[in-house]
Amino acid sequence: MTKDLTPLQILAELEPVAEENVNRHLSMAKDWNPHDYVPWSQGRNFAALGGVDWEPEQSHLGEVARVAMITNLLTEDNLPSYHREIAQNFSEDGPWGTWVDRWTAEENRHGIAMRDYLVVTRAVDPVALEEARMIHMSNGVQSPEGWGGFLASVAYVTFQELATRVSHRNTGKACNDAVADRLLQRISADENLHMIFYRSICGAALDLVPDQALPAITRIVRNFLMPGAGMPNFRRYGVLMAKHGIYDLRQHLEEVLQPVLKQWNVFERSDYGPRGEQARDELGEFLEKLGKDVIKFEEQRDRALARDASRGVAQRA
Ligand SMILES: [Fe+2]
Ligand SMILES: [Fe+2]
Repeated sequence: MTKDLTPLQILAELEPVAEENVNRHLSMAKDWNPHDYVPWSQGRNFAALGGVDWEPEQSHLGEVARVAMITNLLTEDNLPSYHREIAQNFSEDGPWGTWVDRWTAEENRHGIAMRDYLVVTRAVDPVALEEARMIHMSNGVQSPEGWGGFLASVAYVTFQELATRVSHRNTGKACNDAVADRLLQRISADENLHMIFYRSICGAALDLVPDQALPAITRIVRNFLMPGAGMPNFRRYGVLMAKHGIYDLRQHLEEVLQPVLKQWNVFERSDYGPRGEQARDELGEFLEKLGKDVIKFEEQRDRALARDASRGVAQRA
């Protein structure tokens, strides 16, 4: 049996792939300015500067859109924790360091633009938002079980970037506001490029050390948690977002897990040893069960939505 490579050896082996993909990213990434996406003419002072403080009637967003916006923004706000995880597992030197710094700067833009939009339009309570940000950032990132080490980290961020892409895109639609939709489409496009970088790195790791990489991927898929776990109301907000199709189990399976696993060719490749084969089988079983859970979830959701409709609950999603 060949000896496992250490994380440092894997980083060294994959450095040319990182370089190629950083260059690719820089050639594809579009520079944009948060201020161009914010309707500043709608802004006015709060009481501290002689204006009026926030009241719920001021919001032009429905409950689902508000909850999704808050969840997505707080997720972006926790960037220092993600930066720490990525910086600890990647090298600070060469293309790895270039990527970590560039990615962090791009992610920061997402939180800036979303907060400006929400505060200027008075779409959400800015005091509650600030309190939630403090709690969320103080809790840091809630590492899913099995997280840790280069391979698991790069697998996690691949799925997480794609998951946030889906969530931002659907939140934009749920807002019923062309300005918000445009902003969230712009952010989704960034998340997609981030996903492509991490997916390429993880795919190259799978080619390099399939028996080490696939068990890490399988652990991450089995224990996947959205990155916002740890924010106030995460569960309640997550349920509401799933109920209204912002991010639900079918989207998780069909728009996030399956396309990435297909790209990596995990079920067709023939370069596994016993550890890789075991991980592949576990992954296959897990996905099969998830497929059944999707159907169960949707049946329950249909019933819940029908109950809401009969009670006259507004469904603005
Ligand atoms: Fe982001
Ligand atoms: Fe991203």
